[in-house]
Amino acid sequence: MKKKIVVLTGAGVSAESGISTFRDSNGLWEEHKIEDVATFKGWMKDKDLVLKFYNTRRTQLGTVKPNDAHLAIAKLEEGYDVIVVTQNVDDLHERAGSSKIIHLHGELTKARSTVNPSLVYDIGYKEIHRGDMCEKGSQLRPHIVWFGENVPMMDEAYEIVMGADIVIIIGTSMQVYPAAGLVEVTKPGAKVYFIDPKASGDVGSEVEIIREKAGTAVPRLVEELLKSITIEQ
Ligand code: OAD
Repeated sequence: MKKKIVVLTGAGVSAESGISTFRDSNGLWEEHKIEDVATFKGWMKDKDLVLKFYNTRRTQLGTVKPNDAHLAIAKLEEGYDVIVVTQNVDDLHERAGSSKIIHLHGELTKARSTVNPSLVYDIGYKEIHRGDMCEKGSQLRPHIVWFGENVPMMDEAYEIVMGADIVIIIGTSMQVYPAAGLVEVTKPGAKVYFIDPKASGDVGSEVEIIREKAGTAVPRLVEELLKSITIEQ
């Protein structure tokens, strides 16, 4: 049976594709206030501003490509049972070829109804405008989990991490809960790697920290992990 790997990703895995992170210098939260663009209160206050923020990001997403880190994560499936649990709202893991992906914070390429959260629509890289309605006649909003909202995929994510033999955390400041709490539920004996140029040591003593960019460190780790299976056989 194949070993189970969970790859937990944050904005840093997409940085080398040209997507801004949130908390680095020049990050999105330097230019925008979280409460204005990433809360339900902000949405109620100024829908145009919120739609513009996500429309701009969605349009840009259509112009960028997966990088070597996304591609290497997809390649891991050649030897392991891999699930990607991402905080990212981009679709770069999908485009790189990963087959099992959980988006904790939603997806830019989808819109959803404001009256019925189960009405979700694929919109690709198109904009959402005021007056764009769901089939029940209510305004569409970005399919994004805003601050203060429930993270519907969280229970499933905990289960998945608890069952993993290997956990690889990539490019996240680990500041946003509940996602950051996932590292606390790894099973005893699981091997945990953390790839981030600014990785802090307070993720636990058992964690192997690799302070490098994802685009170089992830392909190297993936090669090592794939090679180690060949040796074990
Ligand atoms: P952050 O912006 O908080 O952290 C990005 C991390 O990526 C930092 O630790 C950087 O050091 C690292 N990084 C930058 N370049 C990198 C590279 N080339 N390779 C590897 N790592 C690199 O982003 P997240 O931790 O993803 O939520 O933020 C978590 C959540 O906060 C987001 O999902 C978003 C945000 O507010 C919502 O919008 C709900």
